[in-house]
Amino acid sequence: MQHETVEKNVGLMVALVLVAISFGGLVEIVPLFSQDEVTEPIEGLEPHSALVLEGRDIYIREGCHVCHTQMVRPLRAEVERYGPYSQAGEDVYEHPFLWGSKRTGPDLARVGQRYSDEWQKAHLYNPRSVVPESNMPAFPWLFEWTVDGSKTGAKMAALRRVGVPYTDEQIANAESDVDGVTEIDALVAYLQQLGTLVTGR
Ligand code: HEC
Repeated sequence: MQHETVEKNVGLMVALVLVAISFGGLVEIVPLFSQDEVTEPIEGLEPHSALVLEGRDIYIREGCHVCHTQMVRPLRAEVERYGPYSQAGEDVYEHPFLWGSKRTGPDLARVGQRYSDEWQKAHLYNPRSVVPESNMPAFPWLFEWTVDGSKTGAKMAALRRVGVPYTDEQIANAESDVDGVTEIDALVAYLQQLGTLVTGR
């Protein structure tokens, strides 16, 4: 086929461009399905406890993921600021994953254990009390509202269907594990375990 024929025929050009792009996409995406690195959990990864799972749902409900990413990219500036870059195997039990793409606030993928529980609580009650220049919103209601555990077991059962290895016992105990706990305790439990399986290399 003459180059000129393609250049002068928009329809043909569009069709060929699409073929080229889809081929590039396939070559990048298809191998990922069979790579252990992206489908196998990293060593030590456990499904979230009932408390952490509820904390994660509060994180989603309050829109924390709209301002915070959970993905340290393998770039020097990121690794120096946040810690070891994120690995796919850390997130195989995350449904949906919370990598995000918009950083109004800092990345939180490695924030677990960086601050004390007391700091996290003071910060969520009123961010300005610990970071004077902060423009993060305050979340005082989390200190009053309590977790309703009646659906926790069902959430775990649903996650098990998509491959998260919860045991029958964990599902059976879920409600009593979390019922009546304040939302702030669940959220802080979630934050404190973020990224802690991977430490400095
Ligand atoms: C409107 C955007 C916004 C929302 C929504 C938001 N944050 Fe933030 N967050 C920020 C900004 C900006 C900072 C940096 C200033 C500060 O530390 O307060 C921050 C800082 C943080 C830090 C400290 C991170 C570090 O490495 O120092 C944590 C932890 C945090 N946010 C958790 C949360 C949680 C949990 C929620 C949801 C309940 C939330 N944020 C919702 C904007 C936001």
